[in-house]
Amino acid sequence: METLTVALGARSYPILVGRGVLDRGELLLPFLRQLKVAIVTNATVGPLYLDRFAEPLRRAGVSVSEIVLPDGEQFKNWPTLNSIFDALLAGRCERSTTLVALGGGVVGDITGFAAACFQRGMPLIQVPTTLLAQVDSSVGGKTAINHPLGKNMIGAFHQPQVVLADTETLSTLPDRELRAGVAEIIKYGLIRDLPFFEWLEANIERLLSRDPAALSEAICRSCRNKAEVVAADEHERGERALLNLGHTFGHAIETGIGYGEWLHGEAVAAGTMMAAELSSQLGWLDSRALGRVERLFHRAGLPVSGPNLAIERYLELMQNDKKVQDGNLRFVLLKRIGQSVVTDVASPAQVRKAIELRSAHV
Ligand code: NAD
Ligand code: GLY
Repeated sequence: METLTVALGARSYPILVGRGVLDRGELLLPFLRQLKVAIVTNATVGPLYLDRFAEPLRRAGVSVSEIVLPDGEQFKNWPTLNSIFDALLAGRCERSTTLVALGGGVVGDITGFAAACFQRGMPLIQVPTTLLAQVDSSVGGKTAINHPLGKNMIGAFHQPQVVLADTETLSTLPDRELRAGVAEIIKYGLIRDLPFFEWLEANIERLLSRDPAALSEAICRSCRNKAEVVAADEHERGERALLNLGHTFGHAIETGIGYGEWLHGEAVAAGTMMAAELSSQLGWLDSRALGRVERLFHRAGLPVSGPNLAIERYLELMQNDKKVQDGNLRFVLLKRIGQSVVTDVASPAQVRKAIELRSAHV
C-alpha cells in the first residue's frame, strides 16, 4: 500500500492506495470520531462492494448504516441530496458520525456536500471506486451538486479525514468509465508535469489494459500532483484553477447536452482540445505539441472534439463558469505541454474559432 499526504496543517490527511484495501476496514478506525458511520453508495456500486467494505467495520464494533442512491450524474441534485439528509436524521446520526462515500465522483461529490451541510459539518471519508475518483474527485475537498443551469454550481469545500483507494475495484469498471478517468490523468501531465505526460505517451496501452503496476503508478503520480496543488491553494484563489483545464468548455458540454449523456471525463477531453486550440491560436502551443495532445487523447479512446451545440449555446453556458470574473471569461491555457496559466487574454473571436474547430458542426 502507498500512502500519500495532502498537507493542510492540522487538517492534513492521507490517501491510502493499494490492492485489496477495501477489505481492511481497520485502517479507518483511527479516523472515526465515534463508532458509527453511514455509508453512501449507489445502486451499481452497492451490490459489488458494500458488504465487503462494511463487514470488517461491523466486526470491529462500528455501527454501520447504508444509504443507496440511484446511479447517474442526473441524480447529483437537490432531491437526492435531501434523501441523504432524510436517512441521516432517520438513523439518528450525529455531528460526530462519519459519512463515507463509496463510489465514483458522483457519489463522492454529493456525499461530500451532505457531510459539509449536515449539522453544519460532519466528518467525511472518501472511498473512490472509479479511476476518475481515485485520481481526482476524492482528493481535495471539492463537493457539489449540479444545477440545471450549471455543473457543480452548488457546493462547499469539505476535506475528508482519509481517502481509501482500492485499485482492485477498477477491475469491474466499464471500459468507457476507465477511459473517462484517463482524461483527468492526462490533465496533470498537461498542466504541470511533462515527465508524467511523456510517461503516459509511453504507457497508455498498459493503462487501458488495466496493468496493475501502470494503474498504480498513474494513480499515485496523479494524486501527488493534486495533493501538491491543493496544499498550495486549497480554496482556489490561484493555482488550483489550473486543475480545471478543459473544464470551462467541458462543463458547457455536460450541461448543454444533458447531465449523463457525455461522461465528465469525455467532456473534459473534448474541452481540453478546445483549450489546446485556443493556446495554439495565441502562439503558445505549436502544431507539433497540439498534435501530441490530440494523439494521446485519441489513443486513450477519448473524444477530441465536442458535440454539435450551437456556438452561441457554448458561449452562453460558459458564462456560468466559476472562473468568470467581473463578467469576463477566463481560461486555463497551455503555454506548452507541462506548463499552464489562467488567463483572460483570448479574444471572443479566438474563443469562437477554438469551439468551431473542435466541435461537431464543422
Ligand atoms: P460516476 O460517479 O458516475 O461513476 C461512473 C459509473 O461507474 C457509474 O455508473 C458508477 O455507478 C459506476 N461505478 C463506480 N465504481 C464502479 C466499479 N468499481 N465497478 C463498476 N462500476 C462502477 O462518475 P465518475 O467519473 O467517477 O465521476 C464524475 C463526477 O465527478 C462528475 O460529477 C464530476 O463533476 C465529478 N468530479 C469532481 C471532482 C472534484 O474535485 N470534486 C473532480 C473531478 C470530477
Ligand atoms: N477537479 C478540480 C479541483 O479539484 O480543483
